[in-house]
Amino acid sequence: MATTPDSAMMDKLVSLAKRRGFVFQSSEIYGGLNGCWDYGPLGVELLNNVKSQWWKAMTFREDVEGIDAAILMHPKVWEASGHVANFTDPMVDCRECKARFRADQIEESLCGNPGYKGRKASKCQAEGKFTEARQFNLMFKTFVGPVEDEGAVVYLRPETAQGIFVNFLNVQSASRQKIPFGIAQIGKAFRNEINTKNFLFRTREFEQMEMQFFVKPGTDVEWFEYWKEQRIRWFADLGITKDRLQWHRHEPEKLAHYAKDAFDIEYQFPFGWGEIEGIHNRTDFDLSRHEEFSGKSMKYFDEGSKERYTPYIIETSAGASRSFMAFLVDAYREEEAPTADGKMEMRVVMRFHRKLSPMKAAVFPLVNRDGMPEIAKKIELAIRPHFRVFYDDSGAVGRRYRRQDEIGTPYCFTVDSQTLQDQTITVRERDSMKQERLSADKVVQFLRDQFEAPEK
Ligand code: GAP
Repeated sequence: MATTPDSAMMDKLVSLAKRRGFVFQSSEIYGGLNGCWDYGPLGVELLNNVKSQWWKAMTFREDVEGIDAAILMHPKVWEASGHVANFTDPMVDCRECKARFRADQIEESLCGNPGYKGRKASKCQAEGKFTEARQFNLMFKTFVGPVEDEGAVVYLRPETAQGIFVNFLNVQSASRQKIPFGIAQIGKAFRNEINTKNFLFRTREFEQMEMQFFVKPGTDVEWFEYWKEQRIRWFADLGITKDRLQWHRHEPEKLAHYAKDAFDIEYQFPFGWGEIEGIHNRTDFDLSRHEEFSGKSMKYFDEGSKERYTPYIIETSAGASRSFMAFLVDAYREEEAPTADGKMEMRVVMRFHRKLSPMKAAVFPLVNRDGMPEIAKKIELAIRPHFRVFYDDSGAVGRRYRRQDEIGTPYCFTVDSQTLQDQTITVRERDSMKQERLSADKVVQFLRDQFEAPEK
């Protein structure tokens, strides 16, 4: 495939992600497992920061409660939800090379035979090599207990949403919430995607951050607009370039079976626009179906008006892994930076929003003598209980800055000869590269002011 500036950028980012410990291929020493990725030391910090910002945005408000439901659920859940019948992709197999394609994506796919490098799958189709399209269910099936028969089938959940729907009344009565209110959950979801592609974009195991907001029918349109606005603002507030976000409205004929209206928040990835979150008006579909399949009432009794009704649900469904990837892509910059001797060089800098940065600070002794390492170690130890911090005493200080830029560390503190005289250190800010002096004993307070102060 020809290398475009965008695909070259993506290659560099994937390589940086591996080299600096953001993301590794799953089971790499065995050749990897398609569609599965591992988060390394910095990746897990970044992912946790994304999830914790979402969790705060959702549950640090009086009308949303959190839960953490089991991944394995009663198999009837997936009949009621429509996943057993509808969660399928049409699929064709090549009789010759055994490659499998989504029937609706043949045009953009390449033949699976390595001997035919670059040949279009549509050519193989035209030559009659493909089977008829069959529906392929994307849920992973497994068995509970020792007997592998139909009665023991369970599924790895393909979305976290159902764990919320079935717990609607449990949460409502335990928390004494009144409608309108929401339930939020972060957790793993699994889909046996036919074509995994574009790094973390479409994987077989991923995390979702879903919030279902239960409302009185008739107020759903208003709440739908409210949550659309909240959710796009969340991405923008965490620094995503606004021009790289757009709305995509689902055409009425393409709406999911449960939806009255649906919008995706799309991000402009190097390979094109891609959905990172869906906001759906799910009507009373989910609760009505669970009522029908379980035989248990899922209705809400409004104490005020004495009405009993099935609430409508406004869903906000974000991929944690896809959002992670959007934040990673958006942060990546190559820019000119001055060296210590006044020349210019290229630096790679991850301009993460400081709340998302996996490493918050780095501490350097300028040289490894004159008592500087001892002072620098003391500063590192003062920071460590409060913020992720990295101690680095190897190589020229300029190189150390570059290493921190590349992982997006917002602040570097350097102990130098002036420190020995007046106990001040240099603070260097990542984006502006500006340096100022700060009293060494004020470092923790300085970081608190940067990371914990409310946004202006
Ligand atoms: N409960 C609704 C639901 O699951 P969805 O549009 O299928 O809706 C929601 O998924 C979000 O989950 C997507 O916007 C995307 O961010 C993420 N997602 C879905 N499939 C994914 C996959 N195979 N790999 C990574 N993320 C995925």
